[in-house]
Amino acid sequence: MHACCTLVIFGATGNLSQIKLLPALYQLERGQHLAPSMRVIGFGRRDWSDEHWRGEVRQSLSEQLGGKLDGAVLERLLARLHFVAGDLTDDSGFERLAARLAAEPQRSDDGGFPPNLAFYLALAPGLYGETADRLAKQGLNRPEHGWARLVVEKPFGYDLESAEILDEHLRRHFNEEQIYRIDHYLGKSTVQNVLVFRFANLLMEPLWNRNYIDHVQITHAEARGIGTRAGFYDGIGALRDMIQSHLLQMLTLVAMEPPPHLDAESLRDEKVKVLRSIRPIPRQAVHAHAFRAQYRAGEEDGLRVPGYLEEEGVDPHSATETYAALKVYIDNWRWRGVPFYLRTGKRLGGSSSLIAIRFRHVPQQLFYDTPIEQVKPNWLLLNIQPNECIRIELSVKQPGLLMRTQTERLDASTCSMGRDQIDAYEALILDVLNGDHSLFLRSDEVQHAWRVVDPVLKLWATERDYIHTYPAGSWGPTEANRLFDKEDQDWRNGLD
Ligand code: BG6
Repeated sequence: MHACCTLVIFGATGNLSQIKLLPALYQLERGQHLAPSMRVIGFGRRDWSDEHWRGEVRQSLSEQLGGKLDGAVLERLLARLHFVAGDLTDDSGFERLAARLAAEPQRSDDGGFPPNLAFYLALAPGLYGETADRLAKQGLNRPEHGWARLVVEKPFGYDLESAEILDEHLRRHFNEEQIYRIDHYLGKSTVQNVLVFRFANLLMEPLWNRNYIDHVQITHAEARGIGTRAGFYDGIGALRDMIQSHLLQMLTLVAMEPPPHLDAESLRDEKVKVLRSIRPIPRQAVHAHAFRAQYRAGEEDGLRVPGYLEEEGVDPHSATETYAALKVYIDNWRWRGVPFYLRTGKRLGGSSSLIAIRFRHVPQQLFYDTPIEQVKPNWLLLNIQPNECIRIELSVKQPGLLMRTQTERLDASTCSMGRDQIDAYEALILDVLNGDHSLFLRSDEVQHAWRVVDPVLKLWATERDYIHTYPAGSWGPTEANRLFDKEDQDWRNGLD
């Protein structure tokens, strides 16, 4: 059971809240992880009553969970929900929120709103600063009794400079201890498993360095396009949306040194060290390190799907990238000279997130006078989604009289299981309630991540006239292969 609080969701009727936060709260309710007196207030522009919001949530969860929805669990969750109507750009809604939080309980069996306050900004990042100002104006950033926490989503800023300005703005009202910067990838089970797999097994550590690892690939691929998110995405693009945050976070977990403890500061110190050790990309080297492209019309499951420029709400001259690939080097003793290739795209040939680590070739071609031409290198694959899977690929002799090899796969038992119902947000919401910052980004961490991509963003911003394209449903443009250091390096598109 977790610390009791009132969770206030700004943007309660928006996409994030409906698709991620409310289903996560439902799962937490199902697992009895929420304190009995915890309450949730939805804050939104619509003039809704508590009852109306409950009806909307009931419908939305029924649609999303279908037959898996447990009626009793749903009713328990709905009983916690309240709604405050308000506009983010004026004070009156915030006054109503403050009054509601301070109101005496109306029934004897109602404990009222717990004084610990978690404010979840499920909003466009442009609204964070102003929302924090208005909360502070009501004194809600420093409640008389209990704590106040502020949860913000990525992207935190638009580039290094705007991230620093935003940080400074939020810190006028909330100190670092109170701020929870979410990168929801850190809530994913296999992402956390990178740490366990690395640091709970002696077997891996001696191999985990430049002497044995040829390169690392981190891919997040999506078959879907941008859907209805043009307003957010156009102008943001894949590098900001995925690489600056989720993919660089995965890189830090793969590359970090073992921390002395698992507490938040020790972990984040090590992650920051990795980001700081990434070799800066000078302007003249951007094209050798980064590649961007945009999807054009193509096919998905045999049906024509539109190109990015035809998507609703997209500027028809947009040069926003829907595909980005980046090569970085980490200049420290462990990783010097090992390329890390990060790649993401929308409307690719499949949907998966994969960390793929390729080991070097064996030093001696012992089998040169046998039918084995070349022994394939080992791979370690950490699949984050759709299924959680850790796989090691090894070469073994084929059964029979001939000296031939085949690749054997050692799969964790989770590889054959379906997708878990638990997403990343369950863990992250619980951590906010418990005051655990381990899976949240520290301010310096966000800034160092921006430093890595900033030179690329700056150059791309000056090159608006042309962008490579790839057909929807493909695995992206072949030109992106120019990032590879060696001819025998190639992308792994999923586990197979
Ligand atoms: C979000 C990005 O942060 O992550 C989206 O803004 C992307 O563009 C999403 O689709 C991917 O998250 P997940 O959990 O669906 O892999």
